[in-house]
Amino acid sequence: LNNETQQLLNLHDKAAKLYHHILINTPAGQSALNYLRKRGMSGELIDQFGLGYAPDQRILKPFFEQQKIDYQLLRKSGLFSEDQQGKLRDRFVERVMYPIKNGQGQVIAFSGRLLTNEKTDLPKYLNSPETPIFNKRRTLFNFDIARKSARKDGKLYLFEGFMDVISAFGAGITNGIASMGTSFTEEQVAIIGRATSQLDICYDGDEPGQNAIDRAISLVDDHRSNQLQVKVVQLPAGIDPDEYVQKYGAKQFSAYLANKEETTVEFYLRFLKNGKNLDNQNELMSYLNQVLKVIAKVDAPLEEDMYLQQLANEFNLDRQTLRTQINQLRQELG
Ligand code: UTP
Ligand code: MN
Ligand code: MN
Ligand code: MN
Ligand code: MN
Repeated sequence: LNNETQQLLNLHDKAAKLYHHILINTPAGQSALNYLRKRGMSGELIDQFGLGYAPDQRILKPFFEQQKIDYQLLRKSGLFSEDQQGKLRDRFVERVMYPIKNGQGQVIAFSGRLLTNEKTDLPKYLNSPETPIFNKRRTLFNFDIARKSARKDGKLYLFEGFMDVISAFGAGITNGIASMGTSFTEEQVAIIGRATSQLDICYDGDEPGQNAIDRAISLVDDHRSNQLQVKVVQLPAGIDPDEYVQKYGAKQFSAYLANKEETTVEFYLRFLKNGKNLDNQNELMSYLNQVLKVIAKVDAPLEEDMYLQQLANEFNLDRQTLRTQINQLRQELG
């Protein structure tokens, strides 16, 4: 580790401790603590994830200046924004602070959430910018813990948000990770592929969530170098994992993850129906073609047969015809 890296890690460690202290032990943290309690966060979870609060005051800058930390280092840390004159200010103000850690469990960045759900012109979550120690494309929230837990469970869960990972953790699902607000990346796929052989995608049960599942599956598909097997757990409409845990409890959440896990083909059989009127012959044909293309990639004959049977039953078609069609597609696809 070079000196600068070490110093930046050190700054982040200090900042995380300060924000956590403010949340837990000071009047300035009270409103944030109430907010987290209202969201069902236990003290244990707050400690586990080192959650904190960046209060209304300019807090970090005086703290570090007192310790005579070098200006250039503060600039590079991403913890401050810089005005035209080069003057630094705390980047995070009035936000619940979620420390983001690297694979070794060292804090490398933060995400800060507003205390309100009301629409403002501020982003709900504000993330640290890229720095010498924070590469968003290569970072996964909770990966340091989840990778160990994946050794037992044999898989990782990919959630959309930090709160989903944290609530799942509280419900005993400790092998959950989330990408960094940006969409899921190739680099993250590679990192996951080195840690486990199965990835269960459990995004929010809304339309953006479903579209993101589709994108994530394609991304893993394109990444031929690893043997990562993808499964999907689709949540009920309009709910995210965090909300599911708060509403139905830990037990029911784990049961849902276990029982509703499906193959990517099963996901596409449903997903590809979106926006189509299957009573219309043309749209039905287009659906069948898209679905058969997905099934054509399955290389387990029994599984393939199951899907074809299912389609044949659902649309009152001849399974043999479907098979002929799929073989034709396979030839076209090479
Ligand atoms: P969501 O809007 O689903 O947020 O965005 P959420 O996790 O359910 O948040 P809560 O429950 O309202 O607190 C999913 C993820 O997208 C990123 C965050 O990582 C968030 O967890 N995001 C979202 C941002 O980076 N910035 C935003 O302004 C919003
Ligand atoms: Mn504590
Ligand atoms: Mn969402
Ligand atoms: Mn959500
Ligand atoms: Mn949420």
